[in-house]
Formats: sequence, C-alpha cells, structure tokens
Amino acid sequence: MAKKINVGALISGGGTNLQAIIDAALENSIDAKIVFTGSDNPGVKGLERAQKANIDTFVVDYSKIIKSCKKEGINEVDLPKDFNLEEIESKQKLFAPGASQEQIDFFLKSRAIAEKQLLDKIVAYEMDLLVLAGFMRVLTPYFIDRINIEPEKYRIMNIHPALLPSFPGTDGYGDTFAYGCKIGGCTVHYIDYGEDTGPIIGQKAFEIEDHDTLDDIKKKGLEKEWELYPQCIQKFAESLE
Ligand code: GRF
Repeated sequence: MAKKINVGALISGGGTNLQAIIDAALENSIDAKIVFTGSDNPGVKGLERAQKANIDTFVVDYSKIIKSCKKEGINEVDLPKDFNLEEIESKQKLFAPGASQEQIDFFLKSRAIAEKQLLDKIVAYEMDLLVLAGFMRVLTPYFIDRINIEPEKYRIMNIHPALLPSFPGTDGYGDTFAYGCKIGGCTVHYIDYGEDTGPIIGQKAFEIEDHDTLDDIKKKGLEKEWELYPQCIQKFAESLE
C-alpha cells in the first residue's frame, strides 16, 4: 500500500469515471482520497455523484464566461494579473500552423479567464494529482504551469476514449467506429501543452465485432475506462513513494 494521495477531479457531465474512482477510493482499492470535484457545466449528474459521496464541489461556468468574452470583448483588466500572452502562445501546441492569430489570442485569453477561476477554487485544497474525468475543456499552458509546479513532474491526468495516438479529439469512440476499427480502447495519459499528446500512463483495448453499433462500442469502452482510471491513479500514488 502507498501513502494516500489527495486527488482533485474535473468533470463536465455524467461522471461515471468519477464514480469508478470514488468507489475505488471508498473500497480502499486505491490509495487516494478525492478532495474536490469541479465542473465547467452546472447541474450535471457528476456533481450529484460527488455530493452524495460528501466531496466538495464547485462550478466554473465556461460557456457563460466565453459567451461574455465574445459579447463584451476581452479587456486587459479582465485577464489574470500573471497572464503573459507571449509566453503562453510560445508554449501552446493546440493550434496547427496557419491558425489565425486573432483566433489563437481569443482562445488563450478567454480560457485563461476561466482557468484563473478554477485555480482560485483549487488553491483551497492540498492536492497531489488532478484528474480530468470527462472534462471536455482543453487546458492551456496558463493553467497547466500553475498545477505542474515542479519541473518534469506531471500532475494532471486525462482519460481519452481511444487508443492514442489514434483518434485524438472529442469523439474517440465515434472516430473508432467510423473508421471501421476492429479493436477499440481507452488511454490514460498526462496532460501536456498539446491536445491528447502527453505521455501515456495506461491503455486498455477491446474487440469490436462486425455487428457492434456505436453504442456497443461506447459501452465496452466505458467499462474499460472504469477499470483503467483507478489503476493509473494507483500507479501514480505508488510512484511517489
Ligand atoms: C468518457 O468516455 C471519457 O473518456 C471522455 O468522456 C467520457 C466521460 O464519461 N473524455 P463520464 O462523464 O465519466 O461518464
């Protein structure tokens, strides 16, 4: 057994992965305690799951923030005091070469405004690891650097619904199905400055039968995710010893 680590979770939706982690922690099959659950989306089932388990919750309403940035425009005074656009721009690997500068600037600035609100909530907790459990927002270097405070030590994990590096992006199972793959899977990886590009911690695969529908693939995949995520958290806990 390793020393118990404090884990923060970010979600956007139903939170079945969060539930798997909560259950594993309660059953002591992982050496972890979930200290908070944050969502970018108010009123989602995952928040209820956390509250039921007596875990603190908070919401940073990304849609509202982004809408207001679009409507009102972004003033320098709205940005976090320690935000440095040039630095964040030089680190990020989210945009392909040729993307419009205006689009990049708006994305990084509006996300930093939301990320600062997340950080203001997270700072209240002692946290060893942050897990993204169906958190459907891309994190920028502004946020990542404020969590990964020790050089070379990743502290943010994500679960992705495909066998990376195949099918990055938001619809891993959909892309696996559309391509006609005969094997699907899920990946837990660390977050770096790209989208779904960080070092892989663990993967699980499943077979896809000719008659499987997209729903069948999602079902098979989620069942693998619920096994994989707690295992990867435990691997992290043991790596700290
Ligand atoms: C999972 O398939 C995860 O891989 C993806 O979003 C889904 C979240 O499901 N990123 P849940 O909210 O954990 O039920």
